[in-house]
Amino acid sequence: MCTVVGYIGNSFCSTFIFEGLARLEYRGYDSAGFACLDANSHKLLYSKSSGQLINLTERVKKEPIDGFLGIGHTRWSTHGDTSQENAHPHFDCSKTISVVHNGIIENYLKLKEDMLYEGHTFFSDTDTEVISHLFEPIKEKENVNAGDVAAIVQQLDGAYAFIAMLQTFPDLLIVVRKKSPLCIGMGDNEMFIASDVIAFAGKTNKVIFLPDESFALVTKNNVKIYDFAGNELSIVVHHTAATFETADKGEHTHFMLKEIYEQKNVIIKTVDSLQSKKTMLLEQLGFSTDQIKNTENICFVACGTSWHAARIAQFFFEAVAHIPVSVHLASEFRYNSFFPHKNTLYVIISQSGETADALEALRLINAHGLSTIALTNVATSTIVREAGGFLVTCAGPEVAVASTKAFSTQLAALYWFVHYFAYAKNAIMQENLLQAEMDIIHVAHVLENALEQHKDIIDHIHAMHYAHYDKALFLGRHISYPLAMEAALKLKEIAYVFAESYAAGELKHGPLALVDKNMPVYIFSHRDPIIYQKLLSNANEVKARGGIIIAFAYADQNELIELAETAFTISAEIPALLGPLAMIGLVQYFIYAVAKERGCPIDKPRNLAKSVTVE
Ligand code: AGP
Repeated sequence: MCTVVGYIGNSFCSTFIFEGLARLEYRGYDSAGFACLDANSHKLLYSKSSGQLINLTERVKKEPIDGFLGIGHTRWSTHGDTSQENAHPHFDCSKTISVVHNGIIENYLKLKEDMLYEGHTFFSDTDTEVISHLFEPIKEKENVNAGDVAAIVQQLDGAYAFIAMLQTFPDLLIVVRKKSPLCIGMGDNEMFIASDVIAFAGKTNKVIFLPDESFALVTKNNVKIYDFAGNELSIVVHHTAATFETADKGEHTHFMLKEIYEQKNVIIKTVDSLQSKKTMLLEQLGFSTDQIKNTENICFVACGTSWHAARIAQFFFEAVAHIPVSVHLASEFRYNSFFPHKNTLYVIISQSGETADALEALRLINAHGLSTIALTNVATSTIVREAGGFLVTCAGPEVAVASTKAFSTQLAALYWFVHYFAYAKNAIMQENLLQAEMDIIHVAHVLENALEQHKDIIDHIHAMHYAHYDKALFLGRHISYPLAMEAALKLKEIAYVFAESYAAGELKHGPLALVDKNMPVYIFSHRDPIIYQKLLSNANEVKARGGIIIAFAYADQNELIELAETAFTISAEIPALLGPLAMIGLVQYFIYAVAKERGCPIDKPRNLAKSVTVE
């Protein structure tokens, strides 16, 4: 979740490091720090600030420091509060060694205890600081050799990507990776190091993705890589086409709003892109038509909003391809019993492609030699590199922490993919696949029309009214239940309102006890007449207890609309399975407006980060 960035070369490093940190700030924004070796004296200089990167940028503007090698960091706190003291870089006793780190050192307490006993001085509460102290024995040596670094990393348990810079070695950065991502961009007499290639996109297209459990000794014109036993490894240089588009809110007040509005176009773009790749898709997916025909189960693994997309896609695969589906939270998957099945297709869904839990689940599945594909929004991500094949959504960079367009493009891609898959399995005709493509595009328009239709009344009446409630219940059935879960997550995440989601049929098994006139109950309707009738009964149960109903319904569902204090409607003319995709824009907009009314920092909610690279 934290970001590490480093530079060594012939230019002053601060411009690149601050730009790189800014590009990756979505990963964490609790505090920020920068250290460099002064160009003349080689003295280690540093600056740190709590809060967002802008605070550090301002500080360094007032008290400039720079050099030809340096390291930078933005933090998402794990150990220790968000104070300036706990901001990285962290140091050894004499503050001549500095380290920036992303990950968790699981055995840091034991190491720290021993170090305190030996008389080391600590300046922070972080787990990271022990790393700097571990480097102390090598700072007076003539050279840093691989064996010395191997001896240090062998003492560290956990997941980590870190860069160490030593005042006594002004021509060297030491870069270490276990589990957490780290890559090195190879320039002309300069090297860029970062948690993600996006940090140096545009500077070089030559990149080394540091292998898991390895470290690199990096000078301005050379990289040597070693495993944790100190054996030199051969280097694989990749060519990346990664580009960085400057994120700009345009006329919108928040990135989230801009991203809600982009949905129609990016859904269409995603379908166009999948459509145009049809003939070579099998190669990209890494399996054959026979393998598709033999697939007996689908297993989805994901976190957060991507998990909600998987829960919705479960209905797609069961209804269209008639294939059983299981859906797992990645954070639970690794610790549950695993029954590897060779005719199961394992699909990892991750917008960022960097989520640690999803990545570790993928690694576990890969270790059994099973078929894996990744569905992500970032073609250069670690999950794409490690999965057997991949599908990419075309949402474009999503800046707001709350996922909006990434979710809707995941739904679009999964709805398209199930039809592609079912056609390859001879379960449907080609016309059905073509119809599905047209349906997704139609629904992308419905999503935007619903937004336009309700926007003003939400802004002028509903947002103010519903912003006063501090709790909410979200109900759905069948495919609208995971939609209710996603809506509840959004309300918690950006409006800081406690929200609980339930399958509506469970209401009378407990949560009905919560319902009273202070509890808004959001009900997400369904196109299917039988399921709708059941939802209607649940709405009546809520109404009978004085509950306030906010309904998301179809235009012809008058009974539900009448029961509700507030009802939002979408066109009835859509396939039932695409209901969640049609409604989601409106749901997101409503919650956005409530969060705005409550004065929340919508794009960067407290305690969260966009990319969750620690378990
Ligand atoms: C969504 O609003 C969240 N911020 C979060 O749940 C997110 O979906 C989750 O962390 C998974 O991320 P990924 O899709 O990048 O793996």
